[in-house]
Amino acid sequence: MDHSKHHHHDGHEHDDHEYDGHEHTHDEHRDHSHGAGDAAPAHGHSHGEPTGNAIEKIGFTRSQFLRLCLAGVAAGAVAPSPGARAQVPTASRPRTDSYDDPLVFNGPSPYRQFLKKEGIPVYEGGFIDVNKIELKPWKRVGALGAYIFLEGTAGTVDAWVCEIPPGGQTTAERHIFEEQILVLSGKGRTQVWQRDPSDMITLEWEKGAVFPSPLNTWHRHINTGKDPVRMVAITNAPLLIDMFRHPDFIFDNDYVFTERFDGRKDYFSPKPAAFYPTVPRQRRPVYVQGHHSYTVVNYAPNVWKAELHPAGQGVEDYDTHYAMARNTMALHVEQFPTGTYERCHRHGPGSTIILLDGSGFSMMWPHEIGTTPFKDGKQQQVKQFDWKEGTLVVPPLQWFHQHFNSGKTPARFVKLGGWNNDLYPFTTTLVSDPGRTEIDYPDEDPRVRQIFAERLAATGGQFKMPESVFKKG
Ligand SMILES: [Fe+2]
Ligand SMILES: [Fe+2]
Repeated sequence: MDHSKHHHHDGHEHDDHEYDGHEHTHDEHRDHSHGAGDAAPAHGHSHGEPTGNAIEKIGFTRSQFLRLCLAGVAAGAVAPSPGARAQVPTASRPRTDSYDDPLVFNGPSPYRQFLKKEGIPVYEGGFIDVNKIELKPWKRVGALGAYIFLEGTAGTVDAWVCEIPPGGQTTAERHIFEEQILVLSGKGRTQVWQRDPSDMITLEWEKGAVFPSPLNTWHRHINTGKDPVRMVAITNAPLLIDMFRHPDFIFDNDYVFTERFDGRKDYFSPKPAAFYPTVPRQRRPVYVQGHHSYTVVNYAPNVWKAELHPAGQGVEDYDTHYAMARNTMALHVEQFPTGTYERCHRHGPGSTIILLDGSGFSMMWPHEIGTTPFKDGKQQQVKQFDWKEGTLVVPPLQWFHQHFNSGKTPARFVKLGGWNNDLYPFTTTLVSDPGRTEIDYPDEDPRVRQIFAERLAATGGQFKMPESVFKKG
């Protein structure tokens, strides 16, 4: 398997982390609890006012605490709804042990323990070919599988690859982590339901489809073709499993996120519910306003062919970001022409890119060595690696990286995970940067474009970067 232990990465552009600066109110995205139609803002589950007196708080009994919570409900802080009522604690009788039982200091993380129990290969490193990695029987899922847990994720997201033989299907599952799937080959269908299997909806797909398993819905994938189905998905399981540490809570949780999945029959319609051609995004250190296009839809039938729109990030590059299932993880498809490259940039963890088409290479280096590593005699620390269809890469945390199309066709990739979601930004800057830190063309190390021109010359390609982009102003 060709994964590498170094840190190279990535390919592709993109993405970046982004975060636009335009405003959203908090309530609009934090409507997790509470059923549909519930207008009450979710903040302020006021469980009693802090008094500044810790001893007094310790004196609360459980029933006093519950009374305060209920008083909050009566005051409208938590609107009762069928969804909310379903969450009233009943006797909790876990069927499995939590990952922190018994207590162990300095042991493996709950997510690492989970990985071990899954019993399939875990590929680590900098990049890997999702079409070629070897898979092993994945008992829990009823198919073949492997995990990919690359360094650039910083432990915030993972990926799995799964293969379903002809006539096979996966075991139905649900989980409270997000999952965004790309079909790499084959054809089949996915069934999704909440609570009652008779309300199941079905999505038919083939190679190129991208769709989510909506948060905590039951779902099952079925191979309906003659060839094996291979799919890859990015999930945020590492964060959720580490935070809650209990398999039942993650995989056997009755909470219904109605805003993520409402069960309507056309939920997976490929027709966008909304489209925004130019959602702004700020870049640093010079505050230039960039933009991206956004498609609100829960299913893209074929990302190899999906319609893209001017992205304004490089030279004639195109993209669309997808807002699927109201996921917090980001998702976008991007393409840039042959003979060009996008601006060098760096960002937070987890931007998981899968090359769909084209060929080229990437350069990357730790940001500590500065923006002009060749000029400063630090070229030894600059990594270069080649990519092609099927390469999955996650740029190392805050490394400068830059992608070059040295092939004969446009380079296209999908980014299935990462935290640059303009709709649902994170409060912590550990994962979501306030702005995209990049090196504009006039500021870059001149050796960078020279290397690109040399690579192109060696293969008969043409350097198509307009001279004007290298001039200031
Ligand atoms: Fe990037
Ligand atoms: Fe799943």
